[in-house]
Amino acid sequence: MAKPVRIALIYGSIREGRFCDTIVRWAAREIDGHEAFELDVIDPSPLFPAPTNAPPNDSAANDLQQRLHRADAFVVATPEYNHSFSAPLKHLLDSIYGVWQAKPVAFISYGGVSGGLRAVEQLRLVFAELHATTIRQVVSFPNAPEQFDKQGHPRDPERASRNLCKLLAQLWWWASALRQARQEEAYASVS
Ligand SMILES: Cc1cc2nc3c(=O)[nH]c(=O)nc-3n(C[C@H](O)[C@H](O)[C@H](O)COP(=O)(O)O)c2cc1C
Repeated sequence: MAKPVRIALIYGSIREGRFCDTIVRWAAREIDGHEAFELDVIDPSPLFPAPTNAPPNDSAANDLQQRLHRADAFVVATPEYNHSFSAPLKHLLDSIYGVWQAKPVAFISYGGVSGGLRAVEQLRLVFAELHATTIRQVVSFPNAPEQFDKQGHPRDPERASRNLCKLLAQLWWWASALRQARQEEAYASVS
């Protein structure tokens, strides 16, 4: 069997009480069920000062840097805030260098009526600047709290699972192709 694709599943919210927990836990359960993938869940929270305004934690940043560097592919779970993505997610993308290049990025989005799709379109622009490629298939949850039960399971699990499977198939294709290409010639030679 081919070497599994290593996915970093990234939290797009660090808000206390975030709905992102529900989205990420669902996605992690689903991805864990696929032999073709290994999963690492990345929470940007440690990049931020404690409420006492303690300095940012450099060792936490180094830890995230190494884990993101090891990833073959990224899945970003993004909410929508004022028609865009969150400031903490932007801070993660601006703070951690060199880990995104020549790798694919997929999105699971959620929010109000738009299902987070406006945040996704803006993230595509940012990831292009980081030399990453974004996957067409998006799993989107409009009015997200209505789409999950109290235990955090989707109310229409077959549909959610089917959409995520399509996303993962596209992500696997790109991740495998780009991993091979990076091994043959370092992307740094053209970046
Ligand atoms: C300041 C703020 C702005 C928001 N703006 C939008 C928006 O533009 N579009 C939308 O669909 N939902 C919007 N929402 C709803 C959020 O997407 C929703 O509350 C989501 O659960 C936030 O993610 P989180 O709970 O994981 O932090 C907004 C929420 C907040 C707090």
